[in-house]
This record gives sequence, structure tokens and C-alpha cells, in this order.
Amino acid sequence: MVRAVFETNVSGVIAVTNAMLPLLRRSPAPRIVNVSSHEASLTLNSDLDGPFSALLPSAAYSPSKPALCALTVQYAKELREDGVLVNAVAPGFVDTDSNNHTGFQTVAQGSAVVVRPATLGPDGPTAGFFAEDGPVPW
Ligand SMILES: NC(=O)c1ccc[n+]([C@@H]2O[C@H](COP(=O)([O-])OP(=O)(O)OC[C@H]3O[C@@H](n4cnc5c(N)ncnc54)[C@H](OP(=O)(O)O)[C@@H]3O)[C@@H](O)[C@H]2O)c1
Repeated sequence: MVRAVFETNVSGVIAVTNAMLPLLRRSPAPRIVNVSSHEASLTLNSDLDGPFSALLPSAAYSPSKPALCALTVQYAKELREDGVLVNAVAPGFVDTDSNNHTGFQTVAQGSAVVVRPATLGPDGPTAGFFAEDGPVPW
């Protein structure tokens, strides 16, 4: 299961990003947004009495998301001179199939977090990690 999750959440992102790069390089405003999670934040999750302590421990999903954030930083570095802004986002706890619709935010709210860094101006941030209320600590 760990391999399958990393294949989807990390290796899959590399494959899709690399496949899209020729098109992105032809864009006047190329942006990459990797959909991560608050579970990626080692700062938040290493507080064992903090707000994320209630999450079930996982060797698959939770470690795959910091890997995705690390990948985001590496792509940002690689693509900086090409004007590609690369950021990760944490959409929040959103009402979808993945949590059996227990999420308390709507899909529209979760999607807005993704759309914002997809529509940044040329001076926007890169190599960042953002949620609805601003930057997420790594
Ligand atoms: N919902 C939340 O509260 C929440 C919180 C934090 C982060 N996220 C992140 O948000 C993203 C979307 O999650 P979601 O909640 O919208 O989940 P979802 O409703 O379960 O949707 C997941 C999507 O990923 C596709 N998928 C899964 N494995 C795949 C694979 N190996 N190859 C290609 N497509 C695959 C699924 O396709 P099929 O339907 O065809 O299987 C489905 O369209 C994920 O990256 C998740 O980690 C969600």
C-alpha cells in the first residue's frame, strides 16, 4: 500500500509534471500547483498534543505529502529561470469521496485554495506552501 500511495502521490506527480512541461513552457503564465495537505506539515504534525494529533498515524498517505512538498521546492528551483511558479497547497478538510464526505468545507472552498496559486501574477511566490488562511509551515 505504501508503494502504491507513493506511486500516485509522488512518482505520478513527476510523470504528469514532466509530460506537461513542454506545454507549460509555451504558456505566458506557467504555474504548477501540487495538491498537498496539512498532513504534510512536519511542524504541525510533530506537535503530538496539537490540533493534528487526532489524525490516525499512517506510513503511506501522511509521509507521501511532505515528499510532494519537497518535490514542489525542487521543481520551483529547476523552473525558476523559465518563469514557472511552483507551489503546494493544503485545501483543508473538504467534503469529498476520500473522507466519505465527512469534510466540513465545500468543494468550491477547497478548489479556491488551488485556483489562487494557479492564477498568480508574474511576481507571485514560488516554492511555497499555502492554505486558505495563508502559508503553512513546512
Ligand atoms: N478531501 C480532503 O479533505 C483533502 C484534504 C487534504 C488534501 N486533499 C488532497 O486533495 C486531492 C484530491 O482529493 P479528494 O479529496 O478530491 O479525493 P477523491 O474525491 O477521492 O478524488 C481523488 C481523485 O484522484 C484520482 N486518483 C486516485 N488514484 C489515482 C491514480 N493512481 N491515478 C490517477 N488518478 C487517481 C481518483 O480517480 P478515480 O475516481 O478514477 O479513482 C479521483 O479522481 C488529493 O491529493 C488529496 O490528498 C484532500
